[in-house]
This record gives sequence, structure tokens and C-alpha cells, in this order.
Amino acid sequence: MSNNHYDAIVIGAGPGGYPCAIRLAQLGKKTLIVDKANWGGVCLNVGCIPSKAMISAAKRYKAVTTAGEFGIRIEGPVNADMAGIQKFKNGVVDKLTSGISQLLKANGVDMLQGSALLTGPTSLTVQTEKGHALLTADNIVLATGSRPIEIPGFSFDHPDVICSTGALALTEIPDRMVVIGGGVIGLELGSVYAKLGCAVTVVEMTDSLLPGVDKAATKIVARKAKKDGIVMMTSARALGYEAVDDGLALKIETKKGEVSLTVDKIFVAVGRRPNTENLGLEEVGVALDGPFIGTDAAMRTNVPSIFAIGDVVGQPMLAHKATYEAEVVAEVIAGHDVVFDALTVPSVIFTDPEVAIAGLSEEQAKKRGEIKVGKVPYAAIGRSLTTGEPDGFIKVIIDSGDHAILGVTVVGANASDLISEAVLAIEMGCTAQDIGLTIHPHPTFGEGVMEAAKAALGEAVHVLNK
Ligand code: NAI
Repeated sequence: MSNNHYDAIVIGAGPGGYPCAIRLAQLGKKTLIVDKANWGGVCLNVGCIPSKAMISAAKRYKAVTTAGEFGIRIEGPVNADMAGIQKFKNGVVDKLTSGISQLLKANGVDMLQGSALLTGPTSLTVQTEKGHALLTADNIVLATGSRPIEIPGFSFDHPDVICSTGALALTEIPDRMVVIGGGVIGLELGSVYAKLGCAVTVVEMTDSLLPGVDKAATKIVARKAKKDGIVMMTSARALGYEAVDDGLALKIETKKGEVSLTVDKIFVAVGRRPNTENLGLEEVGVALDGPFIGTDAAMRTNVPSIFAIGDVVGQPMLAHKATYEAEVVAEVIAGHDVVFDALTVPSVIFTDPEVAIAGLSEEQAKKRGEIKVGKVPYAAIGRSLTTGEPDGFIKVIIDSGDHAILGVTVVGANASDLISEAVLAIEMGCTAQDIGLTIHPHPTFGEGVMEAAKAALGEAVHVLNK
């Protein structure tokens, strides 16, 4: 067997590809991972990690400027220095991406930087800086991710019309920014710049921010965003822009007619599309399912030697879903009888406050049958008052009959960490009693999850039962 033959070749080194390669190597498979850009993919380089680093920096700045509420007096000016924030963010990214590269090496994964093109069900070429490499593998895993959607009239070729990658790389805080799209990315990064002092306007096409998210949760996020100075325009559509003396004049269609807004940056965050092009999919006969690559529950495409995982196979486009699929594929390639069978893929929106969702929303659960809902406001949780974060609620949705946990929505501080208990509960088939009778330490945010489970049963002590 030639040196250019592998048990498995993984294309794409994001949160789908790199765990897949590591796991394959751990399972004794000779594995190569190929990526044309940096190790870690969008998540580590221009997505989850840098955005969270910037969110933390902006929150820290806000916390310092509002420290008076805690009796902390700060004398002298407090400045947000974008170069310093970028340095912090880049440091975090560098640490994590070099960690991934070390992990791949330490696990015995071969690594190749270049663009891969399928040439057959078990063969591909990789265009590297040094030329073409011809490779073969018993199995190929496509983990090529997604990229921001560009909308007509807002090409990213203009330096002041940016996508999330551009918004993460600004070296100065703009005075005025419009965010097209009031979804996850628009609100997360829009909040960063608003907190740092930029006048941010969000233009959202639908009648609500974060479409699909619990309306009461969205209301809390919108209220806080407004407090940070964000102007929200819902049922509004950006039509186009023209360069004017002092920036870019944007035309927006609203219910009340057309309005114009002059800004320094236009940040487009209207969703992401899968990277299925220039991979040789059509030539090799890999079938698409809509815009995505189609797979079965074992993440196998219609070509038996080719698997696909992550954003390229469909929604939700979330790093942790990609990683779970990655591990499924590694096990399948190792000959184990494994399929993607997670009961829920949680999602977290790192707005201020955070929103985290596991299982069904109240609206979805209602359509399924009789339910009970327990809701505990953060203001009733001792811990949230001690940290000065009283905005939010925890909602536990259960089946009226057997009290099984159907879904949990948390909006509030630390929602991102609280939700894992709910995910475990759903995976384990827990009932509200299971959570309600589990001792949660005091004083913590987690007590709110216990109390909401009790509230769903009408047995809460710290809030009035309905
Ligand atoms: P999104 O789908 O969350 O939001 C896009 C928003 O843009 C929607 O509200 C939509 O109604 C609106 N929109 C679409 N076209 C428009 C137009 N022409 N004018 C005005 N509004 C328009 O997409 P987003 O924020 O770009 O994020 C993409 C994906 O990235 C998410 O779906 C998510 O899977 C992932 N992501 C997840 C994060 C997390 O888990 N914390 C963070 C960032 C991204």
C-alpha cells in the first residue's frame, strides 16, 4: 500500500473535521486531515471562539463603566482600546488553534494544508503550495463547513460592507454601524459594538428578533439591547446603499415607508450557506439534499465510502452538533454499529443576557400534546441578585401525563452553562421530579432549574404556583 493511501481522509479541520480525525486515529485508523485554511475552522478562527472573546471584552468594559452600581468608584477615564481587544482575542484564537494542531500530531494524524478535490469515491487531489498531491483512502469525510450568505446589493468586496469575519477583525470601533439580520450573529456581535460605544441599528426582515426563539425570551434580550443603545427595526428590509460624503447611505424599506440611514459599516448577518462547491461532488456523484449534502443516520452519503458532517449536512449549524456527528463517523468507519441518535441538540445564543434552549420550545410542545410549564424569574433566584443580573427566566416544559422533561429555555446570566443539565435530563428521559428532587447547591443559578421543574409540578416554594 502506498504512502499516499489512508484508511480515512478528512476534508476540513473545523469542530467537525478535527475531532473526527483524532477519534479515527485513536481507533487505530491511518488518518489524514486536509484544510486549505487554519486548523480549527470557522469556529476557532472566525466564529464561536473569537466572538465569545470579544463578547467577554465588551462585557468587561460595560461592567467597569457601570461598576458604580456595586459601590465601586472608578476615578479617571475608562477607554475601550480596539487594538488591545484584538490582541486579547487573537491570543485566545492562537492558543486554541495551536492546541488543535498539537493534538492532531500527538494522536498520529497526518496533516496537509491545501485545497482538496474529489476525483473518485476513494481518491482525491490536494492542491498545496508545493503542487498537487494525489491521495487515496478507503473512507473520505467531508467536513467543509459553511460561509456567510451574501445578499444582492451588499457585496463583501466593499471594505465597509462586512460579514462576521470582518466584524471580528475591525481595528477601530466604528461610530455608526447597521447590522442586517437580527439573528444569532447579528445580535451577538451587534451587542459587542454597541457596548463599546458604537451606534448600532439592527435591520431585521421578520417581525421579531431571533426568529423561532421563545418570544418572552426574545423580549428580554431586546430590552437589554435597547438599554445598550441598539435601535431595532423589525419588518424592515435593506434595499441597497450608496457612498456619500460621510459614509454609506442605506435605504431601508419599513412598514411606514422607505427610510435612509448613514453609517460607517454595514454588517450583513443573514445566515450561512454550506460549502459544497469546488469539491468534485457532482463528478463523483455525491447527492445533495437541498443545498446540503445528504446523509443517512450514520452520516454516510449515497456514495458508501464518503461521509459528511457538520454545517455542510444541514441545520442546526452548530459546532457541537458537528463534533457529535464526527464521533459517530469515526466509530462507523472503525466498524462499530453507531448512528446519530441524540435526542436534542442544544443551542446557545451569547447575547446579553444569554439564551439557551434544549428540547422543545413551549410553542412546539403545545402542538405535540398536553403540557405543563414551570417558569422561574431570575429575580427570584438569590444568586442572580448577588451578581447584579436579575433579568431572565428559566422555563421547564413537561408532559402533563408522565411529567417527562420535553424542553427547557433559559434566558439570563450563565444560561449557556445551565442548559447542559437540561440536555442530560432529556437524554436520560428524566421527569420533573428527577430534577426537582435533586439537591442543587445554594446559592447558585442552578437552583432556578430545580425550582422551575418544581413549578411545573405546582410544588415550587420560592415562586407562586399557578
Ligand atoms: P440566523 O439565521 O441566525 O439569522 C439571520 C437573520 O437574518 C434572521 O433573523 C433573518 O430573518 C434575517 N434576514 C435574512 N435576510 C434578511 C434581509 N435581507 N434583511 C434583513 N434581515 C434578513 O443567521 P446568522 O445570525 O447569520 O447565523 C448563522 C448561523 O450561525 C446560525 O443559524 C447558527 O447556526 C450559527 N451560529 C451560532 C452561534 C451560537 O450558537 N451561539 C453563534 C453564531 C452563529
